[in-house]
Amino acid sequence: MFNSKIKRILITGGGGFIGGEVIRLLLKESNLQIFNLDKIGYASDFTGINNQIANLGKQYENRHKIIHADLTNYEQTEDAILKSDPDLILHLAAESHVDRSIDNPRIFINNNIIGTYNLLEASLKFYLNLSDERKSFFKFHHISTDEVFGALGFEGKFSETTRYDPRSPYSASKASSDHLVSSWYHTYGLPTVITNCSNNYGPWQFPEKLIPNVILKSFYNQKIPLYGDGKNVRDWLFVEDHAEAILLIASKGRIGESYCIGGDSEKNNKEVVLAICEVMDQIKPNNKPHESLINYVQDRPGHDFRYAIDFNKIYREFGWRPKFSFSESLERTVKWYLENLDWCEKIKNKANYDGSRIGLKK
Ligand code: NAD
Ligand code: TYD
Repeated sequence: MFNSKIKRILITGGGGFIGGEVIRLLLKESNLQIFNLDKIGYASDFTGINNQIANLGKQYENRHKIIHADLTNYEQTEDAILKSDPDLILHLAAESHVDRSIDNPRIFINNNIIGTYNLLEASLKFYLNLSDERKSFFKFHHISTDEVFGALGFEGKFSETTRYDPRSPYSASKASSDHLVSSWYHTYGLPTVITNCSNNYGPWQFPEKLIPNVILKSFYNQKIPLYGDGKNVRDWLFVEDHAEAILLIASKGRIGESYCIGGDSEKNNKEVVLAICEVMDQIKPNNKPHESLINYVQDRPGHDFRYAIDFNKIYREFGWRPKFSFSESLERTVKWYLENLDWCEKIKNKANYDGSRIGLKK
């Protein structure tokens, strides 16, 4: 998968949903030494990684090292880079929930913008001290979102040439971090690549995002909150497909470029919720269909209407396209949450999150 000279990888945000998936894939399919930098915030958990290491065998234990560090602290960030001595940096750490960004934008400015700035500064200093040989394969891969492009109407798709037009504090902070990464490439020559991906779903996602939230509400027979008229559209990608695309771009993506990654699976929120209810009706039937729990609630402020991704560039250059179908992977995801209710309760309690509505205007 990677050039054999690449030995060590530093992943930021590997305590989170997507970072955890990337690490599980790396454990299985590479020999790299993995350093996982995370501030260990409310959404962080290492159970999935630890389970996989236990399944693979004791010899994998040393392949994954957690570095408890916060990117908002420059010294901690620089120390983590020196300790891990990376050939490749995958930057996933971010505050990631739009609703939380509406309630508390400062957290997003600090973590996503200042955090990325500190990581870029420390990475550049490290990079400039590398031998010419190591410089020739070093890469900084920044993982971003399609939300930086704003909102689409009924027609069209986002691509690498779409103008940035973020509209939530979350997407504005991610857009800022993309611009910082791009400027460190153009101005200082740091070898960077950026990916912008659509909405992910799958196991181990903190249960505040749409899909796990709806699964848990329907399991406990609670009202399922559908924002506005339920017609907002997202392009859903199974997290294993995203992890594969990330590693592909990390190894083959062209320096200075950005790549859009999407699921080819546009659904409006009502369709997603109905699909979850249908699976729930089959595997945990109630006297009434789960659909009867749907509750239309006040819309999210500044709610982006539609996201859709044209992933032709990554397909053309590297043949990547999503492998997993929405219906099968959604069913798998629902079953996974029902089998892991203890984990959901544990992580919700740890985060002091009771599933109540957040993200209405201040
Ligand atoms: P997540 O919230 O599950 O995990 C993010 C992790 O980053 C957490 O473990 C958190 O503790 C860590 N983190 C945050 N700030 C940090 C800091 N200052 N220092 C160190 N660690 C810090 O998020 P996720 O869904 O796994 O998303 C990962 C990345 O992918 C994010 O950059 C996000 O913007 C991007 N992304 C997510 C999606 C999605 O649908 N979830 C889609 C496209 C892109
Ligand atoms: P979310 O999972 O928060 O991802 P994002 O805002 O980054 O796209 O939300 C996905 C969509 O689902 C979005 O249009 C908001 C909507 N939504 C609901 O209708 N109900 C909910 O309980 C949540 C969390 C989201």
